[in-house]
Amino acid sequence: MILITGATGTVGRPLVDILHTEGSQVRAVSRTPSEAGLPAGVEVVEGDPSRPDTMTTAFDGATSLFLHPRAAGERAAELVALAREHGVRRVVAMAALNIDEPLADQPSRHRGDRNKEAEEAAVASGLEWVSLRPGTFAVSSLHAWGGQIRAGDVVRGPYASFTEAPLHERDLAAVAARALLSDDLLGRRVDLTGPQALTQEEMVACIGEVVGRPLQYQEVPADLAAKGMVQRGISEAFVLALMARYARDLGGPAPVTGEVEKILGRPALTYRDWVADHAAAFRTD
Ligand SMILES: NC(=O)c1ccc[n+]([C@@H]2O[C@H](COP(=O)([O-])OP(=O)(O)OC[C@H]3O[C@@H](n4cnc5c(N)ncnc54)[C@H](OP(=O)(O)O)[C@@H]3O)[C@@H](O)[C@H]2O)c1
Repeated sequence: MILITGATGTVGRPLVDILHTEGSQVRAVSRTPSEAGLPAGVEVVEGDPSRPDTMTTAFDGATSLFLHPRAAGERAAELVALAREHGVRRVVAMAALNIDEPLADQPSRHRGDRNKEAEEAAVASGLEWVSLRPGTFAVSSLHAWGGQIRAGDVVRGPYASFTEAPLHERDLAAVAARALLSDDLLGRRVDLTGPQALTQEEMVACIGEVVGRPLQYQEVPADLAAKGMVQRGISEAFVLALMARYARDLGGPAPVTGEVEKILGRPALTYRDWVADHAAAFRTD
């Protein structure tokens, strides 16, 4: 039995799908099981991984744990200890490509994500472990630009030439499934990116090509872009760390690790594939 935390989210949902389709016994954890909307046949249990006291029965009969850092929050180590007490033998943690950078420079920490702690909990667990370190998710472009694209043909933002190697969540989930089901990745910290570094300008043009509209990225000065984000309610600490990341990494192409292809034995999904899979989210009709 594989216990999946973060099961209703961006990565957890395709992970549950893959494991269920492959015939594995899966138990999904959600704070609100009635809204989980997972495939029929998947067991969904109520629990909040950031409050391990709500998770005591969730581990009954579980042998592996997918540890989701946003879901576990500050309590990853306690959650993993509880898993071990209940007989879990393997933990696959999701972390992030940037977790060795100074903590204050990691934008997601300012939103409460504890990616480094998830990896540390897995490594220190005494269990079989794998840590997945994804770079930028392709879905981040939907969060950043979806509203502007649904409203018009121009995306205004900073640093048009900044590059990302966007990772399709289905590839990340497929690697996580491999880590859970085979011994291939045991004891590894795996750096995962998409197959291609693209500028923000190229990403917006790609969305336009797929949805059939002449979309353009219009660069605005970083300080103005930052101000706008803060005015829209995004935390100032997050925005400052994000802008600092752009300024710091502006020069070169984003790293492409090639791990998805190596691990899965097939080409990684491209950003264009991802846009095609999510085209409806950029349309208004
Ligand atoms: N976006 C990127 O580019 C990127 C890159 C690398 C790493 N990451 C990391 O990946 C993680 C995000 O993954 P994701 O997009 O799959 O997450 P997500 O979809 O936002 O959340 C996954 C699930 O976790 C549960 N959850 C969310 N917030 C919670 C909280 N405060 N307490 C308890 N449970 C909570 C929710 O399930 P229920 O409501 O059903 O309980 C949710 O469906 C973060 O740690 C992020 O830093 C992101």
